[in-house]
Amino acid sequence: MKASAPGKIILFGEHAVVYGRPALAVPVAQVHADVEVLDSSRPGIWIHAPLIDLHAELTSLPSDHPIASVILKVFQLFGISQPPNIEVNISSTIPVASGLGSGAAVSVALIRALSFLREPQGSAFLFHPITNEQVNDLVYEIEKIHHGTPSGIDNTVITYNMPVYFIKGQPVETFKTGKPFTIVIGDTGIPALTKESVGDVRLLWLRNTNHFENIFNEIAQISLIARRSIESGKPELLGELMDHNHALLQEMTVSSPELDTLVSAARDAGALGAKLSGGGRGGNMIALTDQAKAESVAAALMFAGAKRTIITEIS
Ligand code: PMV
Repeated sequence: MKASAPGKIILFGEHAVVYGRPALAVPVAQVHADVEVLDSSRPGIWIHAPLIDLHAELTSLPSDHPIASVILKVFQLFGISQPPNIEVNISSTIPVASGLGSGAAVSVALIRALSFLREPQGSAFLFHPITNEQVNDLVYEIEKIHHGTPSGIDNTVITYNMPVYFIKGQPVETFKTGKPFTIVIGDTGIPALTKESVGDVRLLWLRNTNHFENIFNEIAQISLIARRSIESGKPELLGELMDHNHALLQEMTVSSPELDTLVSAARDAGALGAKLSGGGRGGNMIALTDQAKAESVAAALMFAGAKRTIITEIS
């Protein structure tokens, strides 16, 4: 059984989302995690994930291992006490620790592939249907083990595979785009731990709460206007909103010289606006461009030091 899950990017509202403000995120189909679960004659549950050089039997891994913990939680949810012998093959084109949601995508694909598991001695094919809500809750549990206090935006957009207007703790709101638009993603190639930038913002917020609350309120307005612009088919308005959001993220100290260089390079190459995306300090930035300029903006990003670029159409 095979299952696949896309990567994701945050368009607006990162960090402020941790403090209850809305954020917008979209799936990125150009990169994805793929999982295949096969019956095996070898005893045990064998996991192959060449991307992290992992070839191991489940019981040899610690129970909080990112992949083992997903499998164990799925068995628990389905009440499978005697799992069948299987081989789990995990591959992914999503770069790790770059803000594209690689961990959540692997978890979502793995849960869906496992939901097709047969019981050991069962003669009939025992399918365990799983709802999006269950997948989302399960992946959020896993994200909490590995990322501290995540807002839950990654697991939500990847599970639903739709643009999401996300407010922590509130029911999932997906939305439609009135007109497709093009985003160029530029990767600084610098791995950055979201946990650290989130922790640093918390310290600054504690020290200067009023100022940070004002920044978060401004970002909340940006997310709201951005959603309306996307839904009403006016995505060209997002450029200015991106520039504004980036300036606020700089004020929150989560940008970096490399991110700022890529953001400027994109604007100089004709992008309508640009900002960092995700936890910041490293990882990715995004730029809004006319479709016709996407290749030249991507080339300008590479010239300015990006390690890779992805052109994605949000539709
Ligand atoms: O680095 P990413 O793309 O996983 O995004 C983190 C987004 C934050 O708002 C900074 C943290 C969170 O949990 O929402």
